[in-house]
Amino acid sequence: MKTHSIAIIKGDGIGHAVIDSAWEVLQTVAKGSGFALEGTALPWSCAHYKDTGAMMPADGIDTLRRFDAILLGAVGWPAEVPDSVSLHGLLLPIRKAFEQYANVRPHRLLPGVEGPLRRGGFDILCVRENTEGEYAGAGGRVHQGTAQEVAVETGVFTRMGVERILRFAFVQARARRGKLASVTKSNAQKHSMVFWDEITRQLAAEHPDVEVTSYHVDAMAARMVTNPDSLDVVVASNLFGDILTDLGAAIQGGLGFAASANLNPSRNARSMFEPVHGSAPDIAHLGVANPIAAIWSGAMMLEHLGEQTAADRVMAALGETTGRGVGTIPGKDRTDAITAAVLSALS
Ligand code: NAD
Ligand code: IPM
Ligand code: MN
Repeated sequence: MKTHSIAIIKGDGIGHAVIDSAWEVLQTVAKGSGFALEGTALPWSCAHYKDTGAMMPADGIDTLRRFDAILLGAVGWPAEVPDSVSLHGLLLPIRKAFEQYANVRPHRLLPGVEGPLRRGGFDILCVRENTEGEYAGAGGRVHQGTAQEVAVETGVFTRMGVERILRFAFVQARARRGKLASVTKSNAQKHSMVFWDEITRQLAAEHPDVEVTSYHVDAMAARMVTNPDSLDVVVASNLFGDILTDLGAAIQGGLGFAASANLNPSRNARSMFEPVHGSAPDIAHLGVANPIAAIWSGAMMLEHLGEQTAADRVMAALGETTGRGVGTIPGKDRTDAITAAVLSALS
């Protein structure tokens, strides 16, 4: 039987509950679909940091290379470990080391989910640059603690980095409804964002079948609320994509529904699948985290592993669950009840 080996990093807070739920669903669908998933849980987290002084071992990246994919819950427990330590010690290095340059985040309403806009009809695929840009980590601080203190954080945009994420987005647009929205802030940021717009125009000439529109990020934020059905694929830099995808999550009913895939499209290193949301310290341990985003991320992992039928079955089960009104209203149903409903829809 075909076996896929999966590294499981539950991380912190609700990462545990949502990944336990997703893993149960994934195991169930695998059994009924003729393949196996072999999971290895890695305890890397803020708790691990407190025990060992590191978010993951020094050879953590090498350990991850042994698996076919990575399933991650959430990282961060700011009451005990600063986010600037925890995220830079685990999540962000994985995205960079494995060149998971395309962070793909779908935003659409599952059946029965109303969303705050009280309108359906939108189906947006956000493609977020995931390895450079505003998250490059270039910068520093001098004269710390004095009145002359300076902090610099430089965005890094390379032709290779911008071109590859735009090319990936063009491919997605071609496979969908043929529309690509490229998001920058080139009216204010006259170097990097003008550069991004230029490369967008160059690639648009190579893709005459794709309708390309450039938007400023502020206008895009408004459009996603007022006219989301006008959008198909939205491509943006690392930070803009981060912000717009929490907005995308909001319009699809909340962070409990927003899934994501950190893809290495050339497949020369592993990809990682995780919900958009974080560890949600405010609701951790209450048993009410919505596992749907994690389960949907698991479906994206199955698709990436070539198990399309199983991925479709998971998405159908999610749709049946929410279509019956389970998991649709934040906080109404417990994690266990939503998981049970998805499992029963699968059987
Ligand atoms: P968050 O996404 O954890 O929570 C934001 C809000 O959404 C909270 O009110 C939370 O209760 C709610 N929420 C999130 N997921 C939910 C779910 N599945 N079901 C129901 N409600 C849900 O964002 P935050 O509070 O800004 O961050 C908390 C911690 O998580 C921080 O340490 C942050 O850095 C980290 N974080 C990690 C990731 C990640 O690992 N990918 C993503 C975002 C934030
Ligand atoms: C996300 C998160 C991360 C990001 C944080 C936790 C560093 O918000 O995956 O959206 O900004 O990429
Ligand atoms: Mn985010």
